[in-house]
Amino acid sequence: MSTALNWTGKDAAFALGRRLISGDADASGHLGDGPHFIRDGDTYVPGVDENLLVVGDNLPGLTGLLATHRRRVKVVYIDPPYNTGNALAYKDHGHDHASWLNFMTPRLMLARELMRDDGVIFIHLDDGESAWAQLLGHEIFGEDNSLGTLIHQRAKGGGNSPSFVRGHDYVHVWGRVGGQAGAFLTEKKAPAKLEIIDGRRMLVETDVLRAGFGRYARGQERRLMYEDILEVKGAKKLAEVDAKLGTGEYVLRQWGAQGKHAVVRVTPAEKASSKLYSIIKALGGQNDLEDLGLGGIFSYPKPVDLVKTLVASQTFFDPEAIVLDFFAGSGTTAQAVMAANQRDEGSRKFILVQTPEPLLSKNARSLVDADSEDGFPEISRLTAERIRRASKRHDPELHFTEIAVTEQ
Ligand SMILES: C[S@@+](CC[C@H](N)C(=O)[O-])C[C@H]1O[C@@H](n2cnc3c(N)ncnc32)[C@H](O)[C@@H]1O
Repeated sequence: MSTALNWTGKDAAFALGRRLISGDADASGHLGDGPHFIRDGDTYVPGVDENLLVVGDNLPGLTGLLATHRRRVKVVYIDPPYNTGNALAYKDHGHDHASWLNFMTPRLMLARELMRDDGVIFIHLDDGESAWAQLLGHEIFGEDNSLGTLIHQRAKGGGNSPSFVRGHDYVHVWGRVGGQAGAFLTEKKAPAKLEIIDGRRMLVETDVLRAGFGRYARGQERRLMYEDILEVKGAKKLAEVDAKLGTGEYVLRQWGAQGKHAVVRVTPAEKASSKLYSIIKALGGQNDLEDLGLGGIFSYPKPVDLVKTLVASQTFFDPEAIVLDFFAGSGTTAQAVMAANQRDEGSRKFILVQTPEPLLSKNARSLVDADSEDGFPEISRLTAERIRRASKRHDPELHFTEIAVTEQ
């Protein structure tokens, strides 16, 4: 006897996915009569080295991307709407799991098609759809390619749930070819920076030697400069440091205006990582938006730190990877990619897809001119604005291309 997840419409949903995947791309870079992209009124063929915001339904959006990005995406992160959502393309069907599964099936099939063999997909869910999504994921990606489920602790407590206080969600993970994804890594020492030195990725710690113990006033130099070691710590300490300078574990770096040198520890990046723990605590996605002056506009954005951790875990040694989020919402994933790049001087790219559905929140009108006749702005407008504001903070040189997708 075989076990299988069945629901009304399953065959049609898979048939749709197969049909969309098999459409032949023509040489001009779009699918014959299929969906294609428009920018400033003209057909646009996106490049693989571009950051993209695709405005439109992700079904044609993902189908259109097949022409240029098939098998090129390393990380997919999605936080899909649940049955309680109010998405334009996915309405609240009153806790009807079948319509959610029908909605997700062709989209996940397309996502799989865009993934590299060593690519992974993170699907973030709450209790409502988690069990269904896991079985659907097994069916589409293969149970053998399942890499497990992470727990995202998003709250500390509070709420007055009738059963227990829910403070976590689930992130199910699959690889396109599970065995090829490699370990999920995280840096051991968060405050250090990754730099490329002589062509090697190195973790750089600039404050290994401290002038003394205890608290330091803001702005006060707490590093002990190489030139002061003898006087402050004595000859034994100096000999110890010299030995490490000899082995290359430490290097000297010019520091401050007095021409002195800080003692800097450099560790090859591969030695400076540890495996990601399956429970990830990251609170407060709304705070990330508030920091950008965009608070109270979008409900339940995910924390940048969470998505950054997930993205970085699979791109630790692949800082040019392409990251896709086709339920972009407020654009957390774009900011997470920028933050990951900032940390290690990487050049990861993001592709976000978001429908232009109206943003019906009380602060949403702050996104449009006060005297404009426009009604509520679209969510995709928030996504674009967030990318612009986040880039000022993380990557002022960042370029992204906003394109629309045609429905057919
Ligand atoms: C739960 S939210 C994602 C929030 C996001 N992770 C963040 O941190 O802001 C889901 C998003 O998917 C969008 N969405 C729903 N159906 C879609 C579709 N068919 N194509 C593209 N976006 C869609 C919704 O408008 C909503 O913004």
